[in-house]
Amino acid sequence: MDPLLPPETAEAERAFPQALAACRDLDALLRLKGAYVGREGSHVARLMDQLKAAPKEQKRDLGAAINALKNTWEEALKARQAELEEARKAAKTLAWDRTLPPPQPARGALHPLNRLMGRLVDVFRPLGFHVEEGPEVETEEHNFDGLNIPADHPARGSADTFYLAAHPGQLLRTHTSPVQVRTLKRLAPHIHEAGGIRFLAPGRVYRKDEIDPTHSPMFHQVEGMLVGHGIGMQHLKGTLEYALRALFGPATEIRLRPSYFPFVEPGCEVDVSCPLCAAKGCRVCKGSGWVEILGAGLIHPNVLDFAGIDANEWSGWAFGMGVERMAMMLSQTPDLRLFFENDQRFLTAMGGLD
Ligand code: PHE
Repeated sequence: MDPLLPPETAEAERAFPQALAACRDLDALLRLKGAYVGREGSHVARLMDQLKAAPKEQKRDLGAAINALKNTWEEALKARQAELEEARKAAKTLAWDRTLPPPQPARGALHPLNRLMGRLVDVFRPLGFHVEEGPEVETEEHNFDGLNIPADHPARGSADTFYLAAHPGQLLRTHTSPVQVRTLKRLAPHIHEAGGIRFLAPGRVYRKDEIDPTHSPMFHQVEGMLVGHGIGMQHLKGTLEYALRALFGPATEIRLRPSYFPFVEPGCEVDVSCPLCAAKGCRVCKGSGWVEILGAGLIHPNVLDFAGIDANEWSGWAFGMGVERMAMMLSQTPDLRLFFENDQRFLTAMGGLD
């Protein structure tokens, strides 16, 4: 060893090969590297401090000796690093059990909103409701005229609705209610033999809303409809009470408030007692104990007439509920955008909707 180097360096030089051999992984090697050649607090760093303080005439030789030592250590560290990296690769290959089945791609699953709509369908199916679907590109006739929506209704304006520029009279449906018109028209000729009509219509709807935590230009609704003899508000209330208890729990209470939709008369909005705080008042129900969850009412005679069903003989009810709102409440999700950003961590955590 160079006579200019201090005795503890000889000590370090002796210990180095053993310490190097003792590094069993890359982390240990990094620690050793830090202790010997690291920028601060290492053996070489201490020698550099001594170099600064050394008498002028010694500086050149001492500097050269330190550098030589540093290079030797660095090369040895590098070689050991390559060895350890090799060993790690080899270990990986060895650990591969070729009798195991190959790794499977991640399994897909239904989106939480689709699961929630599925639950609703499951609640109504035993009551004799089947599922109807309608197109998302609708005609004004189905989306508005057949639903007794007057010409000056705001929903008919281009500020609120996506019209298809290339197809006059066509638009992205603003609610699932046009499925009422389509289904009533289609089933009208069979209504006597069937004794009535009952169905659920889940699906996507579109409105010109700015995206924010509670609005999206695309969202989901579930429409429900029943036509029969002598149907009144009592049937609507009883059915909704049954269905909402099945969804939110047996202690759920419901409340009907008068409201207006052109295609029902009378019309109402329906609240459920807050399922999260047992109606005591919380953030979700804004302290009121009630959460609004759907619009409903008795089918307006004009809607039945439009579809070719005699409003003197038949009557019925309809409701439409917002799926996102319900999903947000059930899962206590404060921002609806989470449902559409498709972050798998969020989607997987949505177990509460089942
Ligand atoms: N279509 C109405 C809406 O989108 C909801 C509704 C459906 C109201 C059926 C009454 C009856 O707001």
